Amino acid sequence: MTGLKMKNGKVKRFSVKIGLAVCAPAVLICGCEKQQSIAENKVHVGVTYYNQSDTFLNELLECFEEDLKDYQKSGIETTVTIRDAAGAQRTQNDQVEELIDAGCDVLCVNLVDRADPSEIIDLARDHDVPIVFFNREPVAEDLLQWDKLYYVGADADQSGVFQGELASDLIKNDGTTDKNGDGKIQYVVLEGEAGHQDAIIRTENAVETMKNNGVQLEKLSYQIANWNRAQAQNRMQQLIAQYGDRIELVLANNDDMALGAVDAYEKSGYAKEEYPAFFGIDGTDVGLQAVVEGSFSGTVYNDKEGQAEAMAELAVALVTHDGLQNMEFERGKYIYLPYEKITSGNVKDFLDETETGS
Ligand code: BGC
Ligand code: CA
Repeated sequence: MTGLKMKNGKVKRFSVKIGLAVCAPAVLICGCEKQQSIAENKVHVGVTYYNQSDTFLNELLECFEEDLKDYQKSGIETTVTIRDAAGAQRTQNDQVEELIDAGCDVLCVNLVDRADPSEIIDLARDHDVPIVFFNREPVAEDLLQWDKLYYVGADADQSGVFQGELASDLIKNDGTTDKNGDGKIQYVVLEGEAGHQDAIIRTENAVETMKNNGVQLEKLSYQIANWNRAQAQNRMQQLIAQYGDRIELVLANNDDMALGAVDAYEKSGYAKEEYPAFFGIDGTDVGLQAVVEGSFSGTVYNDKEGQAEAMAELAVALVTHDGLQNMEFERGKYIYLPYEKITSGNVKDFLDETETGS
């Protein structure tokens, strides 16, 4: 992973490396099993993702489309077709079939059910169309079913550790977090979908990290809100009704759920000084804004730019047969982008230049 990231002056993990081969005129390879891709400088990417209401994924895919467009400057004609599986694996399987029929050269799949990719893998292998899975990680054995299967995502353990460190720092530096002064932090957790690699792992690591940092904790409750802001608001309203002013800390597995928790407090009649501390994960546009405004004490950056860029680089390389050798993989198939901690102190580094007007 090389190069320099322009945005925010941060280090860029991926760079577009276009060799001469792909700029050469299209070649017809005799005996090639795959008919649709006769020109190596044309890349049609088919994408299907689990649900179009997901804030993080919409932002990631926006970056991905931009990244693919950038390849045009290097003489690679890219097109992308995106489908919303609307939460149904059956629908997603059909979409994969349709995308392959439409001539897609490579697929980027965000599984609805990360334990159920077999039908998709069979379809792709039968048509020799490589797959880059992203964000919802298939189990390791499934990725071994074929050599043209890859995964791009982030390290779930790290996001939980970072959230735990952010919360520990706040508790140690700001005595007001322990509102009732009993030396313990009464907390609730808002969890993502059961079975998602980022849900349970984030919670466990955040709590474990706080304990390791000497924070005394008292768990009041866990609620599943499926990454969703409205569900989180609803769950949080129930928690407020049950625990009232005892809640001192809300750990949410993503920003949208942390925002839903804030929404619940805004409707609750509590004064702002009485609110608990809120922590999210993602650093979506709305999540970053919540850090700027002080409604979140912190969040953890889930590097959508880096993930989108890795997906684009990998998808293009798999079709043009150029550049794959320059990419770094874990276990030959995996790319994990690192997370970063965000507080009011560094949030500006993560805001778009356009948003800050600089
Ligand atoms: C993100 C969530 C998102 C989920 C979707 C997670 O990595 O943090 O915001 O809803 O992926 O699969
Ligand atoms: Ca307390």
